[in-house]
Formats: sequence, C-alpha cells, structure tokens
Amino acid sequence: MLIIKDIYNLNTYLKAFKDKGYSIGYVPTMGALHEGHGSLIEKSQNDNQKTIISIFINEKQFDDTQDFEAYPRNKGDDYNFCEKHNVDIIFEPSAEEIYPKEYKSVQNSHFQNILCDEYRPGHFNGVVTVLSRLFSIIESDKVYFGEKDFQQLKIVENLIKDNFPNLKLVAIPTVRSNEGIALSSRNKKLSKKQKSDFISFQKEVIQFISHLDKKIDLIEANKKAEEFIKSYKKFDYFEFRNSSNLNLEGSLGEARLFYAIYKS
Ligand code: PAF
Repeated sequence: MLIIKDIYNLNTYLKAFKDKGYSIGYVPTMGALHEGHGSLIEKSQNDNQKTIISIFINEKQFDDTQDFEAYPRNKGDDYNFCEKHNVDIIFEPSAEEIYPKEYKSVQNSHFQNILCDEYRPGHFNGVVTVLSRLFSIIESDKVYFGEKDFQQLKIVENLIKDNFPNLKLVAIPTVRSNEGIALSSRNKKLSKKQKSDFISFQKEVIQFISHLDKKIDLIEANKKAEEFIKSYKKFDYFEFRNSSNLNLEGSLGEARLFYAIYKS
C-alpha cells in the first residue's frame, strides 16, 4: 500500500496504472474510517483493478472552526484499516496541495435551502469545491459514496452529471451497527450515554415509521412527523422527502426520513 501526499507523485503512479489499462475506483473520505467506508472500498475492489482512497479533512466544508478542530483524527488507525482492506493508494494531501492560491471555490446550485443546506450554510459549497479538485486530480473511472449522507449524494450526482461526464458514481447502502445506528466518523465523539440515548431514539423512530401507511402522501406524513418530534427539544429538521428529487411531493413509500438532532 502506498501513502502519497503530493499530486506529482500521485500522477506518476496513476499514469502507470492507466497505461496498463487498469480501471481505478476512488473513495473520498475525511478519515476516521469505519466499516461504512469499508463497504465502499470493498465494492470498489470488486469493480476495479486498483482502489485509491483520499483522506483529507476539508476545512472549507465546516461552517464552524471548532467543529473542524474537533473532527476525529486517527491517522495510525486509518492506515491499518486501509492495509487490512487492501487499499492500493492512500492519497493524503495537505491543504496547500489541494488549494493552491489561484484555486477558485465552486458553488453548489442543487438542493439548496433545504435540510443540511439550510442549517449549515456554505457546507455543500465546500463539499463540491473539494470534490471538483479531487475528481480532476485523480480522474478515476468510478467514485463511491454512501447513501448515509443522502443530500450530499444527490448533490454529487449533479456535480458529476454537469462537470465530469466520464466519471461513474456508485451509491452504496448505509452500513449500520448491530443496534441499528448508521456508522459515522462523528459517532466516535459520542459518550456512552449519548450513544445509548441515540439508540433509544432510533428505536422510537423505527417504531413510529412502522405504524405509518406507506400510501399516505408526504404532506400527511410530515404532519405526523411534526407531531412525533414535538417532545424532542434539539433538532434542526425531521421530515420525509421524496428520494428521487428531495421535494415534498409523492407518497411515503417513495420517501426517506431525514433528520438532524443534537446530542445533549
Ligand atoms: O462525506 C465526506 O466524508 C466528505 O464530505 C467528502 C465527500 C470526503 C468531501 O470532503
């Protein structure tokens, strides 16, 4: 496994792979790797001859400096994780390498002012800015994203459609812990109590959904969602949205539940 920190060296290896006709799968990450990332890596390995993963904590997508500083970092574990999963290249660039002075930020123009975009202003501009740069550097055949960050996935789908016609996006279902919560790097920051509260909340959510008729429309479903969430104090959004276009039309059967709650 190679750990490469600069674009010049990366290009040398990628060119050698491409000259041999190898297909390249790419998994972008911010580190603190877990089995959710593992499932993306595995799928890439099944589909391609070589798999590259990037580890870059992108400050531009954090709306709060403290949140950026507190983001989990565990390099040694990440290297072991990649070794165990037979990754071919880890690309771990510095901020200077990714953002040379002349590099211009990219603006996201899709799925704006809803869900995370409403509550984390500028977040998705940061995401599309770093991904535009990384996609242009790596020029892989395929790129792998989890469905866990579903709004991000839909935005990336559009970014690729608009700007990277040769890149194929592969979406992978969310990996959950035995207790049913989605694996996430940020969960590493939860205390035992916060984790068990979250697991109980998740069970109540599943129970709530199981009692809903999948044929009701999203207006009715969201009235029930509003009623359900009333007793929980700290949340940004808790709503059903259509899976294909993230709008509030259609039946519950075509929707996903999106929510952001705070740890207390
Ligand atoms: O989902 C993430 O980890 C990040 O948003 C990504 C896609 C690696 C861009 O920094």
